[in-house]
Amino acid sequence: MFRTHTCGELTIKNIGQTVTLAGWMQRSRDLGGMTFIDLRDRYGLTQLLFNMDTNAALCEEARKLGREFVIQVTGTVTERSNKNLKMPTGEIELVVNTLTILNKANTPPFTIEDDTDGGDELRMRYRYLDLRRKTVRQNLELRHKMAQETRIYLDSQNFIEVETPVLIKSTPEGARDFVVPSRLNPGQFYALPQSPQQLKQLLMVAGFDRYFQIVKCFRDEDLRADRQPEFTQIDCEMSFVEQEDILNMFEGMIKHLFKTVKGVEFDKPFQRMSFEEAMNTYGNDKPDLRFGMKIHELTNQLKGKGFSIFDQAEYLGGICAEGCSEYTRKQLDELTEWVKRPQIGAQGLIYIRCNTDGTFKSSVDKFYTPEDLKAIASIFGAKAGDLIFILPGKKKKTLAQLSELRLEMGSRLGLRDKNIFVPLWVIDFPLFEWDEDTQRFYAMHHPFTSPKPEDIEFFESDSGKVRANAYDCVINGVELGGGSIRIYDQQLQKTMFKILGFSQEQAEYQFGFLMNAFTYGAPPHGGIAFGFDRLASMFAGLDSIRDVIAFPKNNSGRDVMMDTPSIIANEQLHELNIRVELKE
Ligand code: AMO
Repeated sequence: MFRTHTCGELTIKNIGQTVTLAGWMQRSRDLGGMTFIDLRDRYGLTQLLFNMDTNAALCEEARKLGREFVIQVTGTVTERSNKNLKMPTGEIELVVNTLTILNKANTPPFTIEDDTDGGDELRMRYRYLDLRRKTVRQNLELRHKMAQETRIYLDSQNFIEVETPVLIKSTPEGARDFVVPSRLNPGQFYALPQSPQQLKQLLMVAGFDRYFQIVKCFRDEDLRADRQPEFTQIDCEMSFVEQEDILNMFEGMIKHLFKTVKGVEFDKPFQRMSFEEAMNTYGNDKPDLRFGMKIHELTNQLKGKGFSIFDQAEYLGGICAEGCSEYTRKQLDELTEWVKRPQIGAQGLIYIRCNTDGTFKSSVDKFYTPEDLKAIASIFGAKAGDLIFILPGKKKKTLAQLSELRLEMGSRLGLRDKNIFVPLWVIDFPLFEWDEDTQRFYAMHHPFTSPKPEDIEFFESDSGKVRANAYDCVINGVELGGGSIRIYDQQLQKTMFKILGFSQEQAEYQFGFLMNAFTYGAPPHGGIAFGFDRLASMFAGLDSIRDVIAFPKNNSGRDVMMDTPSIIANEQLHELNIRVELKE
């Protein structure tokens, strides 16, 4: 037996026992005639003691051990004189009498401690060493627990987990596909699934009724803190359901996860908000409801007073930051520069101070009387001591800028506490999104999403107005999941493809198998998929999903540890009938 115990389990109860441990040498201290070593494994740390007086040869040997050497020790569990009550094993130490070096180790390129000196790039290159750190390992343990609890909940609700293939045909989820060449079918390619969308719908046609899968999805898109090219979904589909059934079922799943994994209980049903309200009041479709600071439209109140920037604007809107009226000139200038950065793109920032003495002061005082300013303050319900910010411009763009400003002010004012969770269902999304560049409609969710029955009458005549049976689950401004009730009528699906600009041949070529399946008795069905990495990183209180993924990619989509993507051998290309010619 390599070990009798792990490094995390010996306590005062084991005193006097002879035990064997194995693990990594975390750190070593020589104090007079004694050497102390912290031995680490997945379960914790145990202090080892080597004594010069009682076993000088062994102590000398211990002093030669380098960091991260893999060792095995046998000794007696002894009560410590200098206890560390913060550690589960902190009341004991192991007085060692035999030591075996199982493997030597090069000095690691960064310290393997909770607070490491290793930069991001270095830690990613040596991710297997980074994963030895408790903080990183704990994130993966949390993720594991969440996966277990997801399965427990869905199993209890009669869902069955079905694996679907990874080499498939393109599934449109709005990103580019990753493709894989086929050696056996020269010149032809598989696509990796952006999601198992069509396959789960086929499982409904097959009568599986309730499906789920914790599944890898692949999307070739621009990467951000909450986006990886390969990520994991809790993917689900149900038959004979309406939107309400899905929302209830998966509100139950999220509540179950919060309760069992985080000990957080939500006593009320999740709030619901239409897409339109979310856009008009928070400037985006995933509002962070941990704080108010709602956006108010001021177009009617501000136009026509001679201030040309406002008079020319299509839309005027603002937010009110509580208790900020004493912002200094410098703070206001800095915030103005912040909104003018290219990522935000505002032209400037206009403010109204609601002074503590009840007067108002604004950067556009010339054009507005104190009564005008007071009337605007009352729209926000502003109190003395508040500060109102106003942005002008095109409606969509200005709302997006106000949304960014709101989130930034929320952060600056400490209103985005990571230990508070405010869940929300965003519903009634538009079915289509118009793209100016290509002058065509795109499916806002995906082409299998059904229109709201009451909007079907203008499905083709006024497509932009049609709302979808689609929903997103949002917590603290993060889109955790999204889904829809599907089209199960073959004719309606055909019309959908037509509005999306697919010719009949294209639709047949790409989705023929699904349309064909619908001719054999498709039940009404719908589903949802949650971003499992996003959920795990929220539970862990992290800002990036990379920290809950064992081997993530960097922002250029590279795995810096394996150093890939990489060039492949000519023979391999030859076998695949492929010649690589890079574009200029
Ligand atoms: P959707 O495209 O909204 O829906 O994706 C579902 C959820 O997956 C997460 N997600 C991502 N997470 C990390 N990196 C990415 N690149 C990434 N892209 C998406 C998000 C998102 O809410 N087939 C539909 C679901 C359905 O209709 O049932 C789908 O994939 O948290």
